[in-house]
Amino acid sequence: MIDYVDVVAGLCWGDEGKGKIVSHLCSQGNYDIVARWGGGSNAGHTVFIDKKKYKTHIIPSGIFHGVKSIIGPGCVLHPESFFSEIQYLEDNGFDTSLIKVSPYCHIVTDDHISFDKNNLAAKLGTTGKGIAPCYASKAARTGILAKDVLEEKFIWDEKLKGKILCEGAQGVWLDINQGLYPYVTSSETLPHAACSIGFPIQKIRNIWGCAKIYDTKSGKDPRFPKDLLDVPVLKALADLGEEFGVTTGRRRKVNWLNLDLLIKSLQITGSTHLVINKCDIMEELGIFKLFHKELMFFVDISQMKAYIEEHIRRNCPLVNKIIFSSSPEVV
Ligand code: IMP
Ligand code: MG
Repeated sequence: MIDYVDVVAGLCWGDEGKGKIVSHLCSQGNYDIVARWGGGSNAGHTVFIDKKKYKTHIIPSGIFHGVKSIIGPGCVLHPESFFSEIQYLEDNGFDTSLIKVSPYCHIVTDDHISFDKNNLAAKLGTTGKGIAPCYASKAARTGILAKDVLEEKFIWDEKLKGKILCEGAQGVWLDINQGLYPYVTSSETLPHAACSIGFPIQKIRNIWGCAKIYDTKSGKDPRFPKDLLDVPVLKALADLGEEFGVTTGRRRKVNWLNLDLLIKSLQITGSTHLVINKCDIMEELGIFKLFHKELMFFVDISQMKAYIEEHIRRNCPLVNKIIFSSSPEVV
């Protein structure tokens, strides 16, 4: 029997700190299973455990806390990258026998990766991990399944049960339906898509939406013009926040939080909990701005937080908890 499902989802363009929330929730021992529902090694999760930094791309962050970690049927997996990630986790002392892959997860081939690198990376700013070509093969029903490629020991063959945490990848504005096509990824990033793992939607209890107190974009999007990289104060914010892609090493474009879009993504995800990360970085910068219809200025972080909270409470009745986080390790 499935007791309940909680979902952690990105509310922006990815890189919101979902891995940290998943790791924090798992550290409290509340889950039997952590599962990814979409994407592949295009994702990059940074997690701090006892002040040590770990980076993963495809393996769910529950693995850092000894929780069974499943890569769902909506994900895509490049075997070589998967094995090297397993090696990395083993070298760091984590129990990798807990990692399982759905038999219907699709395999990213080297051809998918070359096509992505040669045809899409420059045009769309993809991560070059073969994501779009792999999902294209899946939709064309010519794809290769994990069950036909991976050793049996990696294949998930149990029934889904107990307390489940679903770990999102990317964010609302990269969703293939809700994002600004074609500047999107090829999977569904909204929390309802977590049901593709194999549970009814009614089992979802909490939806943890995740954002930062400023916006970032890795890769192309006309809403993040290149000149943002040259604005000194935004550059300073990027440096303080170490805004470089975990997967690509690219410098992310940084801009002030777009509160109108955040309200919209809270509404479409039905988030019950909101975590706004990296408030410490904004405090370090000492300049407090956001867009809400127009550019707004605040005297300090508490005034800015109060403003955000007031407008979210007014517009997003499903949100019952708002957490402003200033720590890389805990929520
Ligand atoms: P793709 O998913 O590699 O096809 O890339 C499509 C777009 O999504 C590009 O703009 C990428 O930079 C962006 N993207 C994909 N995965 C992530 C992620 O995990 N974090 C942030 N951006 C991502
Ligand atoms: Mg990331």
